[in-house]
Amino acid sequence: MAGTTTTDRGSWNSKLGFVLAAAGSAVGLGNIWAFPTKVATEGGAAYLLIYLLCTFAIGFPVMVAEITIGRKSGKNPVGAFKAISSSKFFPLVGLWGVICGVMILSFYTVVAGWAFGFAFEEIFYFLASSELLQNLFGGIGWESYSASMKGAADWLTDTGNGFKNAIIATVFMLGTIKIITAGVSDGIERATKAMMPLLIGIIVVMIIYVLLQPGSAEGVSIYLLPDFSKINAGLIFSAMGQAFFSLSLGMGALITYGSYLNKKENIPQAAAFVTLADVGIAFLAGLLIVPAMYLAQSQGININAGGSLASSTDLVFQILPALFHTIGGSVGMLLGVTFFLLLSIAALTSTISLLEVPVSYVIDEFEVQRKKAAWMVGLGILVVSITVAFFPALIGWFDYLFSTIGLPLGGFLICLFVGYVWKTDQALNEMEYGFAGIKQTLFSKVWPVFIKYICPAAILYNLISNFI
Ligand code: PFF
Repeated sequence: MAGTTTTDRGSWNSKLGFVLAAAGSAVGLGNIWAFPTKVATEGGAAYLLIYLLCTFAIGFPVMVAEITIGRKSGKNPVGAFKAISSSKFFPLVGLWGVICGVMILSFYTVVAGWAFGFAFEEIFYFLASSELLQNLFGGIGWESYSASMKGAADWLTDTGNGFKNAIIATVFMLGTIKIITAGVSDGIERATKAMMPLLIGIIVVMIIYVLLQPGSAEGVSIYLLPDFSKINAGLIFSAMGQAFFSLSLGMGALITYGSYLNKKENIPQAAAFVTLADVGIAFLAGLLIVPAMYLAQSQGININAGGSLASSTDLVFQILPALFHTIGGSVGMLLGVTFFLLLSIAALTSTISLLEVPVSYVIDEFEVQRKKAAWMVGLGILVVSITVAFFPALIGWFDYLFSTIGLPLGGFLICLFVGYVWKTDQALNEMEYGFAGIKQTLFSKVWPVFIKYICPAAILYNLISNFI
């Protein structure tokens, strides 16, 4: 049986590998699909400021805690709590994390599948409407050819088509499983190292294109000018949930990734890189999407629904494709394909981490080999995904229960564990390996205060005020 010793579990080849994999986990649909519309509808830069506060004051300390638990124990979220305490309760917190991972992955693959399908839709749409091709056809057979291309494009954009949703979600899940079976450094690290630079390149090129278009300026001001009147308890709760989701916190993804981290690495520094990468890309995604939305409006596309801005799903899967079609020709197609590839890549580096959590649990706790564990767990989750594919209304429910509530709840309990059961001093001892003299730094005075008091109080207050 494999899977129980440290060498069998695998490890990162380099710190950069860990940072890119963790940043890959963090940067996902949350940054590109969810974050920009939240900023645009919930007060522009006012939301951004609250979001930054949640990220740095709550998210970052919890991220350090998760990675440290992972590295100390060298285990999956359930095994980690068992390894470093005799508590009967906290392994259940780990199990809750595994369950959240499974459930988030089940709907995440469906949305990722939509994005992936739309990349092809842009190609079919181009093939159906290109004047160049029409001229080449010289009128012969063009009508029926164009109709069949248009049919394929329409099929790919029908997010209500359960059968189509299921097929593409399956493709996405199989890709994720395949990467996970290759292991930590040869699978996860290699894939994310290739995809993250590509993702950043695409986003920057697209921002430059959109900001150079005349209609986009209004979006820039909506995005960057604060409307402080919109700040209320609901907004703060939303920003906190978004921060947890976006940083992949509260379900043990970073306990798992931390468990493959070398002792010589500096945990607070690595966590800072990951946090900055996540925030940076969310900020860039907003700078791309909010102006693109107003560019669409300047082209006559309706960007409102029921008196306010359209939802993120409508925005990404209706308004932006309409914009790409309006731009038309090969430029429109290239923009469309590139944008949806960007979304798919971001989603894939996140689904990898979502699947790795339950897979590492099965590898460690049931002594199953990685390949077998990845296929078993991945195909099991696919069954739930296919159900979601046929009933997309489940996405909202699952998202609310397992991300909006589930992740902050997990984060709260992780703070209690590190603050009061394992103790922050022990955690600092673990950090000391890659950060000699940490106990003499300001970080070692401030971080425990956040983990013991500020983070749990803020999370609890938010959770309770949301229910009231
Ligand atoms: N951080 C991902 C995103 O922003 O899309 C979602 C996610 C991935 C959440 C992994 C939790 C997780 F463990």
